[in-house]
Amino acid sequence: MKILLLGSGGREHALAWKIAQSPKVEKLYIAPGNAGTKEVGENVNIKVTDFDAIAEFVLANGVSMVVVGPEDPLVKGVYDYFQADERLKNIAVIGPTKGAAELEGSKNFAKEFMQRHSIPTAAYKAFTAAEKEEAYRFLEGLKAPYVLKADGLCAGKGVLILPTLEEAKKSLDEMLDGMFGDSSATVVIEEFLDGIECSVFVLTDGKDYVILPEAKDYKRIGEGNTGLNTGGMGSISPVPFATPEWMKKVEDRIIKPTVDGLVKDNLLYKGFIFFGLINVEGEPMVIEYNVRMGDPETESVMLRLKSDIVELFEKVAAGTLAGTTVEFDERTAVCVMLVSGGYPEEYEKGFVMTGFENVKDSILFHAGTAEKDGNVVTAGGRVIAAVSYGATRAEALEKSFRSANAINYEKKYFRGDIGFDLQ
Ligand code: AMP
Ligand code: GLY
Repeated sequence: MKILLLGSGGREHALAWKIAQSPKVEKLYIAPGNAGTKEVGENVNIKVTDFDAIAEFVLANGVSMVVVGPEDPLVKGVYDYFQADERLKNIAVIGPTKGAAELEGSKNFAKEFMQRHSIPTAAYKAFTAAEKEEAYRFLEGLKAPYVLKADGLCAGKGVLILPTLEEAKKSLDEMLDGMFGDSSATVVIEEFLDGIECSVFVLTDGKDYVILPEAKDYKRIGEGNTGLNTGGMGSISPVPFATPEWMKKVEDRIIKPTVDGLVKDNLLYKGFIFFGLINVEGEPMVIEYNVRMGDPETESVMLRLKSDIVELFEKVAAGTLAGTTVEFDERTAVCVMLVSGGYPEEYEKGFVMTGFENVKDSILFHAGTAEKDGNVVTAGGRVIAAVSYGATRAEALEKSFRSANAINYEKKYFRGDIGFDLQ
């Protein structure tokens, strides 16, 4: 089978690495890919949201499956685009329809969905600029800190957590005034939940699902979980507090009601669902849905998935997931992300990277890299992920830190404390 994977980050390199291991794959294309994905497939210079170019490529090259990495093409309706075209409708697209992708595309839609299907989440209300006074009153009725979320997509930057009521009101004004453009024309105000986060992933065919290995993501730039939010500085799978008992609560109270809710609401979904959860005194609650895999969670999750991912995708497309079991690797997998100095604020690109030959114990998944004059150079904020297996978390982390130290480029930075808060 010929497969086209859309995307260009560390998540896509990890997915490409896993897909390429399937004996079912005759050819793997990645659009646009990065300097790492070309080691496991062929990069194609097409933007993930250029649906016409994607369609043309798929038809010209006999591609029969399209796997969508990032949220943007899903929220813009790539699934529906394929369905609407006679020549494309039999090509499997792994991802939700545009309607179902609103679970990530609109925070307000996601909150209404959870409320409708009794899925545990923080209390909330959504407001527009015309309702500012009501929004103030709502804030006054909450306890600090205050959580404000832009309704629409903001590349992971649309959530503000403010320590005082005064700051919350000021930020609310700024958001409603266009701080995130149209994405913050509606703002969701939420009760703050105190706990530790965990990312849980499933693959669904729209009525049944399989649960993939869970992971913990480290979002803040600074050690000890301090400083600005990033796309993610590292990840670990498994997560110690995600015991079988806890995962059963997640399945019964969150996963099953979500998949059943999609059916009830007539929202067709054939792809990954990412449950951003928080463990509040032993009880799982939903912080957010994403309609794709997480980055950098995928980098460790793919190491722990033993089953053939392409076989799972085929079942997703055919609607035959029921009764499928997924095999997990018992070892721990960790991911340490190397980033550009300055990220997530301003940073420079184009630094030559060396030392790859000294990485012996880890797999490297490229994120923001490019090739220039025969060298690999930095080309993004998150540059490369050092992922490792270990019999224990400590062993896996030691390998990844050693590998992170072995790679060189100007202004390299990584967090040396990934996993510090787990016991
Ligand atoms: P989101 O984009 O919804 O995942 O939010 C980004 C981050 O903000 C989450 O990963 C949490 O760390 C934090 N966050 C979001 N909502 C809440 C909440 N209701 N209570 C506490 N923290 C939250
Ligand atoms: N690691 C969080 C995300 O992918 O949104």
